[in-house]
Amino acid sequence: MKKEDSLFVRTIRGAQCDRPPIWLMRQAGRYLPEYRATRAEAGSFLDLCFSPKLATEVTLQPIRRFGFDAAILFSDILIIPWALGQDVRFEQGVGPVLEPIASEAELAALDLNGIEDRLESVGEAIELINAGLGADIPLIGFIGAPWTLMTYMIGGRSTPDQGPAKKLLLEQPDLFFAMLEIVEEACARVLRMQIKAGVDVVKIFDSWAGSVPMSLRQKIVFDPIKRIIENVRTDAPQIPVIAFPRGIGASYLKFANEVPADVLALDQGMDPSLFDHANRKVALQGNMDPMFLLGSEAALADELVRQRDLFAGRSHIVNLGHGITPEGKIERVEQMIAFWRNAA
Ligand code: CP3
Repeated sequence: MKKEDSLFVRTIRGAQCDRPPIWLMRQAGRYLPEYRATRAEAGSFLDLCFSPKLATEVTLQPIRRFGFDAAILFSDILIIPWALGQDVRFEQGVGPVLEPIASEAELAALDLNGIEDRLESVGEAIELINAGLGADIPLIGFIGAPWTLMTYMIGGRSTPDQGPAKKLLLEQPDLFFAMLEIVEEACARVLRMQIKAGVDVVKIFDSWAGSVPMSLRQKIVFDPIKRIIENVRTDAPQIPVIAFPRGIGASYLKFANEVPADVLALDQGMDPSLFDHANRKVALQGNMDPMFLLGSEAALADELVRQRDLFAGRSHIVNLGHGITPEGKIERVEQMIAFWRNAA
């Protein structure tokens, strides 16, 4: 079977299928005991990302356990700033810690040359994953979109309101947009590298898109994502692209009309009927609140029926509105999968 004939890719292409495909954001992660064991063996989080063998193991764990319809490369969006030469660490209980960029000199120290070479182990992981993955399960590669990467590169860590990145944007727009250009180029190169190594689908995470002021979303969210997609499609015209501009509300309609992604991933605040007004037909991914994987069986059962009704009649990929949390319960994931497998 070719990956193009998989349930996942056929649904993306708009085919009518017996049931929707299922995968979860952060499906390889701390809610799984087998992930925690491999993570402990790896030492640091970046060691896990950069070990082809261990990254392959954790990518395949949720496929083995649940039989999801797609795998997602185990890595992180912040390996791009790392590959550009920025100091990036992950601290227990804190999350990512980067040496913040705030000046022209710090920006000039970023190095696009050889970024693919510094991420060679990611290409090796992609090849190993494909060797271990069923012929009917596509592999998703990914990047963070420039704005989301820059919130970490400028802020130095997770920031509640993305304040440092916004401040730089408003106080030193020339520096901000010079940085955007470099990060955008890095994003396109890394996606091209992943596609060359063998991913079947790519996803662009713009997790903090919603914090960009409305008047600047065109320049900072829509246009860079559009250019990245056009860039990778010069060599891979057929590659399916999932976009996830999280938290942009009603402006997602404009995004849908302008950005040529094949799949729009919806956060839990979105209503799929917004896209009935789009100028094209597009597959939708989403959007159950991950909180329902923490609660009771009855609460999840009700929510699953609501989700089924919400997406009825649409090209739909089952997923959450954001990543599953470390507290997510395995029984609830099993319940969710069983519901959708029988939902036809
Ligand atoms: O299973 C998968 O989804 C694939 C792997 C993946 C990870 N991160 C692994 C990870 C993917 C696709 C990401 C994307 C990512 N990383 C995003 C965009 C999606 C989103 O959630 O909005 C962002 C913003 C990051 C940056 C990042 N990585 C943060 C802020 C953190 C710390 C917070 C946290 O959840 O711990 C990480 C660490 C991280 N990336 C973990 C995992 C499994 C947990 C770290 C650990 O195991 O110690």
